[in-house]
Amino acid sequence: MTAKQFTALPQDLQPQRLPQHVAVIMDGNGRWAKNQGLPRIAGHRQGVDSLKEVVQCCQDWGIPILTVYAFSTENWQRPLEEVNFLMLLFESMLRQEVEQMHRQGIRISFIGELGSLPSVLQMEIAQAMQITANNQALHLIVALNYGSRHEIVQVCRQLSQFVANGELQSEAITEDVFEQYLSTVNIRNPDLLIRSSGEMRLSNFLLWQMAYTEIYCTEMLWPDFNREAFHQALVSFQSRDRRFGKI
Ligand code: FPP
Repeated sequence: MTAKQFTALPQDLQPQRLPQHVAVIMDGNGRWAKNQGLPRIAGHRQGVDSLKEVVQCCQDWGIPILTVYAFSTENWQRPLEEVNFLMLLFESMLRQEVEQMHRQGIRISFIGELGSLPSVLQMEIAQAMQITANNQALHLIVALNYGSRHEIVQVCRQLSQFVANGELQSEAITEDVFEQYLSTVNIRNPDLLIRSSGEMRLSNFLLWQMAYTEIYCTEMLWPDFNREAFHQALVSFQSRDRRFGKI
């Protein structure tokens, strides 16, 4: 990530009440490009800059985990040209940015069906995860070829296999056990979900993990999303009364 200027936490935010895990659905790249009279891929390219800015904010303001939805299992149905562009964008982003991220203490990891991604991209992913594995400043999790229902079904398959093998009693399957087999094992559930572009859906993103996540939707298209927009999302988050089903 290119080094950006550090900014202090805005005064209207309480440091002790910041979300510890923010998830983002980066939506509206295509519409942004269309509005500018540009091809859709220009929106994705611009979206990378918004992501960099949010990463920088998390670092500056002390938010330790950021998960972003970069490509869903449904996104393969887009025109081949766009899918290919996105794969190359992820690849070049990793190649160009990993060293800088490493210097900044960012750990990057990926969730999703990585085995069906292009092999060069799989290599870049493996390298990036390995190089940054011990970094502590920020954990950036990229959901790539990710679908939450698929993830949940995979867990069911695995657990039922254990039961069939006599290694696990079905009564022993609890929420805690189930979570141990999700791709997000040992990562706290998101406190805040931000979705851009006015859409108000989860779109198969972290369905189990976001049972009690606060949702913030903004009309802003992702390429326009910036530090001030993130600040506003955090202000909204801090105004919420999180009861987790209690009174
Ligand atoms: C959704 O907008 C966006 C995506 C499917 C791709 C998101 C990817 C990036 C922002 C690139 C940066 C990510 C990494 C990890 C390098 P859309 O295309 O659905 O927009 P639309 O709804 O306006 O068509």
